[in-house]
Amino acid sequence: MKPTVQIKDKTFELSIPAAQIDLAVDTIAKEIDRDLIGKEPLFLVVLNGAFMFASDLMKKVTIPCQISFVKLASYQGTGSTGKIKELIGLNEDITNRTVVVVEDIVDTGITMEKIINTLQAKNPKEIRVATFFHKPEALQRPVPLNYVGMKIPNDFIVGYGLDYDGLGRNLPDIYTLKTE
Ligand code: IMP
Ligand code: MG
Repeated sequence: MKPTVQIKDKTFELSIPAAQIDLAVDTIAKEIDRDLIGKEPLFLVVLNGAFMFASDLMKKVTIPCQISFVKLASYQGTGSTGKIKELIGLNEDITNRTVVVVEDIVDTGITMEKIINTLQAKNPKEIRVATFFHKPEALQRPVPLNYVGMKIPNDFIVGYGLDYDGLGRNLPDIYTLKTE
């Protein structure tokens, strides 16, 4: 029997242990070090979900870089609302900068498309995307994903920054919604 957690009305089953996550973060950090050396990238971490991935990733990236935080929420409960809010909290001038958007997960891609369009209007040199999780089956928008930690099935997950109704973000492992 897999360990489970109960969050409100739902039961989630352990699916990806923290050690496996850590290996994937290592890989992304090495790719970023290799690709972006000399570019002094600005990492834009998308709150709230990406806080844990960003913290792990930034400890492993060794090239000179800057880190800042933005927010754009479009998700409630276990279904995408399709409602798009504005990107807030961008205080840096990104003109001619190499920007790396750091996200927890790209699901439909609607959120990432919005973020990329907003940033693109500010004339950066280049926008790259680092997302820890990606659900290829759910993707509805053609967003370029430069760094992907793990491709996962189209199931609802919690942990490692991802929440169900605001809860579960602190879990170091990933748990998947039990459906039966
Ligand atoms: P998208 O716009 O459909 O790509 O949704 C992206 C956002 O939805 C992410 O930044 C998450 O906040 C949220 N999200 C998508 N899938 C999950 C999931 O399985 N668990 C928790 N949040 C999710
Ligand atoms: Mg998010």
